[in-house]
Amino acid sequence: AAYDAGQHESFMRKEMLEQPEAAERVLRGRLDERFGTSHLGGLDLDARDLRAVRRVKVLGCGSAYYVGQMGAGLIEELARVPADAESASEFRYRNPIIEPDTLYVAVSQSGETVDTLLAVQEIRRKGGQVVGLVNVVGSAIAREAGRGIYLHAGPEVAVASTKALTTMHLAFSLLALQLGRVRDLSIADGRRLVQALQRLPEQLGEVLALEDQLVPVAARLAEAESLFFVGRVRGYPVAREGAQKFKEITYRHAEAYQTSELKHGPLALISPAVPTVAVVPDDELTERNVAALHEIAARGGPLVVLTHAAVDLGDLPSQAEVSRIDVPRSERELDAVLLTVALQLLAYHAAAALGHDIDKPRNLAKSVTVE
Ligand code: AGP
Repeated sequence: AAYDAGQHESFMRKEMLEQPEAAERVLRGRLDERFGTSHLGGLDLDARDLRAVRRVKVLGCGSAYYVGQMGAGLIEELARVPADAESASEFRYRNPIIEPDTLYVAVSQSGETVDTLLAVQEIRRKGGQVVGLVNVVGSAIAREAGRGIYLHAGPEVAVASTKALTTMHLAFSLLALQLGRVRDLSIADGRRLVQALQRLPEQLGEVLALEDQLVPVAARLAEAESLFFVGRVRGYPVAREGAQKFKEITYRHAEAYQTSELKHGPLALISPAVPTVAVVPDDELTERNVAALHEIAARGGPLVVLTHAAVDLGDLPSQAEVSRIDVPRSERELDAVLLTVALQLLAYHAAAALGHDIDKPRNLAKSVTVE
């Protein structure tokens, strides 16, 4: 049967709700509980090749770039290999130095994004090794990279990407785990993460169940002309992706910032008219994040805080409006994917409150195949 939105009001909502199954598919057959690792045959790299990797460079565009930034962070954290993400649309214009012991990772839902494709060609032309993290089987980027991990998210129709991003994050988790386990990541940590990954499909369902709680919060946010999305370290790319999704379908000005940088400038913009959506996971930075919330609230800035149940926000100044959303939690290293899905729901219901055509936002195409 043709792929259609069925009884759902939009493809985006249908695709958000499909995330637990999509997550199961990307993980299926790839986790090894016994050795606390993953097996990614498509990479075509054995343990020796993986140990020889000295650096990882992730390339993608838009949301794929933001998830790539989450992925690079995971790789550094689990494998202790220097890793970063760069927008593929900029990469080839700065005559990049291609190193033989760098693993280049191209990430794309469609596999047809021309900027990402041209980045892959540039790497290959200069003799670099590249793998693809791609959803569409047989697409241009998958073919050009020649090896990689298929995401198995299933068809994604809505311009605003959701389930593909979740599978990208999980594919990065698998890659980071495998790279880590051929290095210094302990078997105990490997097993802890394998078990956490196995729980994620169900937990994604628990995040989706927050929908009713998020609808009124989203409707309030939709009234603002301009908003901040803030997070730190693991939470920063989550904030970037959250702002991106919000912009795409609500047409509001949503600016992502590192929470730590607010006091270096943008705090001047905080007022009762400018809400902040803050990503505050239960991790090493919780206290510092909470201190920033107090600074925002003291200036009357409305807050929507995506956090974990164990986090104590303290007595926030009463002049500010505060909504707290407790998101189900995984292990610290993996929480980003669950927080990202909560932000998808927020963007979706803000756009719905504004009455927008959610699946086809103005000025945007599902995949950008011209430069
Ligand atoms: C996502 O919501 C966007 N529509 C967009 O940023 C997208 O992720 C980007 O264009 C990359 O697309 P790709 O994954 O198909 O390469």
